[in-house]
Amino acid sequence: MTTRHFLSDLDLSPEELTRVLNLADWMKANPYAIAPLQGPQTAAVFFDKTSTRTRISFAAGIAALGGSPLIISPGESQLGHKESIADTARVLDRQVSLIVWRTYEQAGLEEMAQFSSVPVINALSDDYHPCQLLADLQAVREKLGTLAGRSLAYLGDAANNMANSYLLAGANAGMDVRIAGPQGHLPSREVVRAAEERAAQTGGRVTITTDPAEALQGADAVATDTWVSMGQEDEKAQRMRLFGDYQISAGAMALAARHAVVLHCLPAYRGAEITAEVLDGEQSIIWDEAENRLHAQKALMAWLLVESGQADQTTERLVREAEAAGL
Ligand code: CP
Repeated sequence: MTTRHFLSDLDLSPEELTRVLNLADWMKANPYAIAPLQGPQTAAVFFDKTSTRTRISFAAGIAALGGSPLIISPGESQLGHKESIADTARVLDRQVSLIVWRTYEQAGLEEMAQFSSVPVINALSDDYHPCQLLADLQAVREKLGTLAGRSLAYLGDAANNMANSYLLAGANAGMDVRIAGPQGHLPSREVVRAAEERAAQTGGRVTITTDPAEALQGADAVATDTWVSMGQEDEKAQRMRLFGDYQISAGAMALAARHAVVLHCLPAYRGAEITAEVLDGEQSIIWDEAENRLHAQKALMAWLLVESGQADQTTERLVREAEAAGL
């Protein structure tokens, strides 16, 4: 059986995405029923960048799956500087059942997966944040009931990993994804082309624009991310001016649907990419979104182990029943 990895949003087919989201809903209602890591088996979680939600949700999720999380903070291992990624993978997969990695280059994750016989999960790279999108889609589906045909507007730094993942995951879910940012800060041609190809299969739609109003018009979900990502702190003043027209404010929300929900992966900067009034307002589902990191990642880990032939029979039976049924 081939080992399945989750390195980008398109590593799940549209049908697989629905199955993982169904499983996430079921595991949210039945938090300790599925325990593929019982033993406990160890899951290694590497961080080359800082984290709150990702670190906590993977640690709590691995424990809830019956396993033992081994969290490796920035600078604590030889990975990538004193030892190659390939050699690290060769050692790890004889000792752990899963590898989770937050890093810079997507190519590093791909190399880790190439040499690993256990599933490798992208916990954020410079290019994508696919685990975050599983949580976001679960939260939107909980509030609005459906994903396919729903419109999702993302405003702000449209060349960053969150914009890329909204494009790909939204297209994968059959959504009408609208990405708005200033010229020079829009998604790459490669990512847009990949999203368009997936949207053509799912009935989704992709719009890239510099006009925030075009993206927001009647949108069912409105999302943003920090304007100053990790490593861009020196450019803060310039970026605050550059993205000013793309703030999610009450005025911006007036253009969206009345029932629209607001997403932010956090950490958020009130008064910059989003006003406090919107972030803390009635349309915000950010705390559900943050909670769903736990449920969605637990579902993903269990699902990857089953698909890779690395789970026990009870887990496989429960996962198959839950992913087919949903709630
Ligand atoms: N949203 C997110 O990934 O948060 P952390 O950077 O705190 O993990």
